[in-house]
Amino acid sequence: KPRHLVSMLELEKNELINLIDRAQYFKNLIKSNQLPPNNLDQALKGKTSALLFTKRSTRTRISSEGAVVYFGGHPFFLNQNDIQLGVNESLLDTVKVLSSMTSCIFARVNSHNDIQELCKYSSVPVINSLCDTFHPLQSIADLLTIKEQFSDLYDPVEKSFKGKLKLTWIGDANNVINDLSIACLKFGINVSVVLPKNIQFNNDIYLKGKEISKENNVKFEILNDPVIGCLNSNILVTDTFVSMGEEDSKLEKLKKFENLQINSNLVKSSKVNSNWIFMHCLPRHKEEVSDEVFYSDNSVVFQEAENRLYAAISAIEGFVINKGKLV
Ligand code: CP
Ligand code: NVA
Repeated sequence: KPRHLVSMLELEKNELINLIDRAQYFKNLIKSNQLPPNNLDQALKGKTSALLFTKRSTRTRISSEGAVVYFGGHPFFLNQNDIQLGVNESLLDTVKVLSSMTSCIFARVNSHNDIQELCKYSSVPVINSLCDTFHPLQSIADLLTIKEQFSDLYDPVEKSFKGKLKLTWIGDANNVINDLSIACLKFGINVSVVLPKNIQFNNDIYLKGKEISKENNVKFEILNDPVIGCLNSNILVTDTFVSMGEEDSKLEKLKKFENLQINSNLVKSSKVNSNWIFMHCLPRHKEEVSDEVFYSDNSVVFQEAENRLYAAISAIEGFVINKGKLV
């Protein structure tokens, strides 16, 4: 059975650290125009990879295609208009056929159940490229970005921030923060999640996060007040308030998030750390963050987006070329 990348939950701390270190390694090579050693750039030569996407994508599509090409492979972008899936063929039959002819499947689907079904029946590694519950490639890129920004606070021996950083999320409780909170806690970063009162964090992930926070001596809290959540924070993060597939309930959803925009007033009134950054997985809308913050010098959103490429390269190396042996 191949090993799949489903979420941050099934990665051992050392494995996650290694995925991020390798992303950084490949970034350095690419930035200095060097080829990887041992003909790694030919590792997928003559092979194809499927990008099975039932939702829109800019970053995930471009980074995954780029990562397959980096290793000499050929990516196929397949949305529901390109193949029989959803109209004339089941997910099960589709994955059996796709995995018989490709080296791996990047899958962006609606539900976590669909990812689980793909993993069950695929004979090649499945890389979760966003479902309703997780977005692991985003977390790898985000942790790389945080490591780049706060390298002075990172302990390279213990491979941890040892509680010296705090990340504050103000937004919805779904895919991006589910994985990001787990990844940060494993890296020794305190996490405060600010949600509207009528939105609940996934309880299983919360309980798991609490366990990880204890093991790593950091705090993991869920709050409703953004001013308290941002106190002494170094990393402010948000995401769209209306995720893909929720367009029909847009107005209702936006109402829940009234007064939760990240803007300069919040930054001033909440005593964030003077050394703060703003992050967002993108695409971004003005209701979740003001232009002033989004385009400020504190914002690292485009560096974060670029890091998606190195995250995808690292994931292919780990899960496809090295067959899931990450350390
Ligand atoms: N952040 C992210 O996954 O963006 P896309 O939807 O454009 O892939
Ligand atoms: N929460 C967002 C993330 C997009 C990358 C969504 O699911 O649409």
